Amino acid sequence: MKIILATHNRDKEKELQNSLQGINIEICSLFDFPEIGDIEETGTTLLENSLLKARTVFNITGIPTIADDTGLEVDFLDGAPGVYSARYAGNNVSYQDNVNKLLIKLDGVPREKRKAKFRTVVTYIDKNEELWTEGRIDGIISESIIGDGGFGYDPIFFVPHIGKTFAELSSAEKNKISHRGIALQKLRKILINVLK
Ligand code: IMP
Repeated sequence: MKIILATHNRDKEKELQNSLQGINIEICSLFDFPEIGDIEETGTTLLENSLLKARTVFNITGIPTIADDTGLEVDFLDGAPGVYSARYAGNNVSYQDNVNKLLIKLDGVPREKRKAKFRTVVTYIDKNEELWTEGRIDGIISESIIGDGGFGYDPIFFVPHIGKTFAELSSAEKNKISHRGIALQKLRKILINVLK
């Protein structure tokens, strides 16, 4: 059976593929469907955007689809950038631009006020089911970039109980504890039953 990951993000594609390893499915992504362009994320919540991506791809292809939407919620900024995490520094910006903007916003803010969480909503749609799971992880925004792995805000997302940023973890280590990893572990359990 085939499942489409509704993403054009190679970093996410890799994480999603790792998390779903061992289930008897053929995984492809939007890179295999060039006729499906970028899907505009017009929702105001992670669930809305995740559903929007999954429904759009499923309606076009008729192939079971998984989508995710992720936000970094910083307490000091009242939950920003949240659902707008990809566009925090503007449209068509780099990961580095978003990271720099966040570091500037938090310049001089003491460690105890730099709490943040990553939240992901993963949705799955096929002709019978429409379901979703959520994963989250608490952390602290570091004062500078630490580590060179991962993507996005990983080099400034410090996980206190590990003593490292996400960018210092291998992808297997990150997947075990991350927002997306947790949401996918939940989805994986459900999918194993759905696909029986
Ligand atoms: P999206 O809207 O779900 O594509 O994600 C929003 C933005 O959050 C992305 O462009 C990344 O900058 C960031 N992001 C998503 N997932 C992660 C992650 O696992 N680590 C770090 N940043 C992430």
